[in-house]
Formats: sequence, structure tokens, C-alpha cells
Amino acid sequence: MKILVIGSGGREHAICWKLAKGSLVDKLYAAPGNAGIFRHAELVNIRVDDIDNLLRFAMEKNIDLTVVGPEVPLALGIVDRFEAERLKIFGPTKLAAEIEASKAYAKQFMRKYHIPTASYMVFVDMKEALRFVKGSSYPLVIKADGLAAGKGVSVAKNYEGAEKAIKNMMQKRQFGAAGAKIVVEDFLVGEEASVFAFTDGKSVLPLIPSQDHKRVGDSDTGPNTGGMGAYAPVPFVSEKMQKDILDLVLEPTVAGMAEERRPFKGLLYAGMMITDKGPKVIEFNCRFGDPETQALLPLLKTDLAVIFHAVVNGTLADEVLEWEDAYAACVILASGGYPGEYENGKEIHGLRDIKDSDALVFHSGTKFEARRFLTNGGRVIGIVGVDEHLESAVAKAYETNEKIRFEGKQFRSDIGYKAWTKKFKFLP
Ligand code: AMP
Ligand code: GLY
Repeated sequence: MKILVIGSGGREHAICWKLAKGSLVDKLYAAPGNAGIFRHAELVNIRVDDIDNLLRFAMEKNIDLTVVGPEVPLALGIVDRFEAERLKIFGPTKLAAEIEASKAYAKQFMRKYHIPTASYMVFVDMKEALRFVKGSSYPLVIKADGLAAGKGVSVAKNYEGAEKAIKNMMQKRQFGAAGAKIVVEDFLVGEEASVFAFTDGKSVLPLIPSQDHKRVGDSDTGPNTGGMGAYAPVPFVSEKMQKDILDLVLEPTVAGMAEERRPFKGLLYAGMMITDKGPKVIEFNCRFGDPETQALLPLLKTDLAVIFHAVVNGTLADEVLEWEDAYAACVILASGGYPGEYENGKEIHGLRDIKDSDALVFHSGTKFEARRFLTNGGRVIGIVGVDEHLESAVAKAYETNEKIRFEGKQFRSDIGYKAWTKKFKFLP
């Protein structure tokens, strides 16, 4: 197979690395890719939202399968465009991608199909939203309806906080058109887990659960980021809990989307809160998570191209996923200032001294210029340690971290820490 992977992050590096290990792949392309993906794929200089040129490229090269990493091209309808030309592509259509691209749509869908989630209200009128939050109890969660690169969520502790968040979104348009509509929902108390499932629109094949670390600082402090680290599997998500999430969330979501005539094909990402009243959905995403994917794929024994093929051909019922009996932990190295302002172009030292037996290095925002690796994004590198014990997997990642240097490097030093100290907010 000739496969084109769309994206340029650590998630896409992990996908390319895993595909390259399989037996079905003759040739890999990545658009636009990064300096790490370059080891596995031919880089194609086309932006992820330039759908005309991606389509032209796939037709010219007779690509057998295109895999879409990020949500933006999915929300723009890349799958619809490729399928109209009879090209095979892994990911949901534009209508199905609304489960991520509109939080109001996702909430209305969950209400209709009785999928457990926080209670909520949707507003398009700022005065009404302000009136509602005046009479509410706190904390409350305020969310921009549209895509906001993981930054469109604000937890308000009191009316003043809610008022500020609502005005930022609806009046100042901090997230542009994404904030024209907002969701206000109850604050859920519990432990977060990311539960992914492959689906061909009918069958559901869940992956092992993982946990992201969204805040920039240790002990979950500071602003939200795209994700500063992840590990898998997650000890507090028991087999019983995984079964509940499959029965209460994943299966009814896939069945419901089919009933809505928006069949969901690709990877369904359920961002879960495990509460004392059972699992509840915080949000859905319509694609792999970053950095959860970097922790998950090194543990997957099954050939990823076989699964992608089964998803696009509607034969997922015949497949199973096999996993290593081990843990993986991913530590993200980010640019100084991230998730706020940061500078690109800092030289990254030490990458050549790392062996695959130490830890896996997945590039996020990097580029290669004049024989040097340079930073090229907020999240720069993900280091993944794998071991039969979670603590040792984490230790491997941090030992390798010491070898990598770039000006302004920041990282969290507590990835996975809660899992072995059992310092969860809530343990079922
Ligand atoms: P989202 O983009 O919807 O995943 O939200 C980003 C982060 O905000 C989540 O990972 C949670 O940490 C937090 N969050 C979102 N919604 C809620 C909620 N209803 N209750 C508690 N925390 C939430
Ligand atoms: N790690 C969170 C996300 O991919 O949305």
C-alpha cells in the first residue's frame, strides 16, 4: 500500500513510525510532516487545510489510503472530498466530525441518546447567558462551541469568572467565530481518562485507556495546553469500567450517529470523567489524541495498516487489537512560554545520542535545516519510555529527557505520578 498521513505533530510521527513497522506499507508520504517523520516517510510540502492540493497529490500518486491526523481538515470535509473521488481515507465525514467541531451539537446528541454527560445549556445570546450564570451555583464550565485548539474551555469559580469568560468568547471573540455560540455546563468531579475506539460506523473496537496531562504545570496547575504528557494503560479504569464505557458511551454513540445519518468512521475519542456516579463524557474528538497516541501505539502489537484498512472497508468486526503487557509514558518537551507566546528556531541538541532501546523520540514541532534540528512549534518533542512497570517507563522517559537540550525547554516532572501514588481525586 501507498499511504499518505496528513499532519505534522507527535501523533502523526507515532502513526508513521507504527505504520512503517507493519508489513502492508510499501511507501509512506506525510503532509507536511516534521523532522522526525522524515525518517519514515517522504515529506510533502502541503498544509493540512489545503484540501485541493492534498486531493490532487493523492490522485497523482495513486495513494491507496490517506490517514488524517488533525481535526481541522476533517471539519473542513476532507473525507467527503476524497470519497467523492473514490479515494480511501481514514476519518469521519464533515457531518460526523461535528461531534468534535460543535460542542453544542455533541451535547444535544448525547442528550438525545442518553449518553452520560454533564447537564448543560446552549446560548447564542450573551445577555441570556449572563442572566443564566447569575442564578447558577458554582463552579461552572464555559465552552466555546467551535474548534479552539483545546483552549476554548474555562472553569468559572464564581459569577465574576463566568462573566469574564462569556464576554471574552461572545463579545471580544477571543476564539473568533468558535465563540459565537457557547455551552455552559456543570463541573464534573473525578479523574479524567481518554478512551479511544476504532469504528467503521457499525463495529466498535476500543483501545486501552490512557491519561493525558492537560495543564502546563506540575500538579495540574496553570493554563490548559494541547497535552503535556500521557501514559497507558490507566490503572484506575478497571475492566468493569471499560465495559461500562463501551456499553454506555462508545456503542450508543456509534449507533446514534448511524441513526442520525452521520455514520462515524475512523477513530472516536471519548474524553471521560470517571465520577462517583459512573463514567461521564467531557467531550468527544473525531481523531487520535496527542500525546495519548504516542503512549498507545508503542504498546499495540497489531499492524495498524490492517486496522485502518478494515475501518475504511467496513470489515472491522473481523479484527481484534493485541497489546503488549507493559506500560508506556510520554513526556512532552515544550517551548518556553507555551501555551502562550514562544519563539521557534532554537537548535535542539542531543537527539543523535539517543538509542531506540533508551526511549522512543517522537517529534512534534521540529524542522531540519542546514543539518540542524530546530524547534518549530509549542510542543517540540515527546519522549516515550516503555517498561513492564509504569514507574520504570516514566523513569526511562525522564532519563532520556536529560540528553535533549534546547533554549527555553519546559516539561512537567510529574507525568504518571498520580497513577502509582494513587493520588486520584476519586477512586471507584
Ligand atoms: P475539553 O476541551 O472539553 O476537553 O475541556 C478541556 C478540559 O477542561 C478537560 O480536559 C477538563 O480538564 C476540563 N473540563 C471540561 N469540561 C469539564 C466539566 N464539565 N467538568 C470538569 N472539568 C471539565
Ligand atoms: N490530548 C488531547 C487532545 O488530543 O485533544
